[in-house]
Amino acid sequence: MKSATKSSSDSKSKSAAGASKTKTAASKPAGTKSTASKTSTATKAGKIKAKQSAAEGLRELYIDSLKDIYWAEKALLKALPKMAKNASTESLITAIDEHTAVTEEQVARLEKVFEIAGKKATAKKCEAMDGLIKEGQDIMESTEPGPVRDAGIIAASQKIEHYEIATYGTLCAFARTLGEEEAVKLLEQTLNEEKQADATLTEAAYNDINFEAAEEDGEAAE
Ligand SMILES: [Fe+2]
Repeated sequence: MKSATKSSSDSKSKSAAGASKTKTAASKPAGTKSTASKTSTATKAGKIKAKQSAAEGLRELYIDSLKDIYWAEKALLKALPKMAKNASTESLITAIDEHTAVTEEQVARLEKVFEIAGKKATAKKCEAMDGLIKEGQDIMESTEPGPVRDAGIIAASQKIEHYEIATYGTLCAFARTLGEEEAVKLLEQTLNEEKQADATLTEAAYNDINFEAAEEDGEAAE
């Protein structure tokens, strides 16, 4: 109370003292008000205008996400054999070949998920997967064939797997919220396959490939 009386001659302090008395939005001090309006203008300026086709509810967002991963899986069906052709270690080639076969099943499973949702299976370009596949291509161009390229292929593949794990985790959550239990089961099956693929790649890296690639450092230095 003393400080409020003391600062009564200073208008700035007066409004600050007023703010300390009550915390309601209506009695915010003048200083705070101006900061808040600056912030809201900045947010407005940075706000992205939604497209006409923008999702309005979780169901629409779910369908859009399904289209995205449907594109991603189909793109992987083309990219994985290229990675297998560029790999040298037998266990890695087998892992990629097996995951290509699993990916085919995942595409078919997604078609069922679309069907459950009463939608036609449609692919929409997934920019993230497109980028990850391009990165994989870049890693192969930047490495000599052998254990070093194999280590690069594992690195690129694990980024892909982690993206898929995140996507299917989200899709499971969306489907569960929307009450699509049958779809949840299918999406969970795929999620587990992606986790398994990730674990297999880690095993291949730790068992041989990374160590062999590290030996190449020694040979290059000799
Ligand atoms: Fe997949």
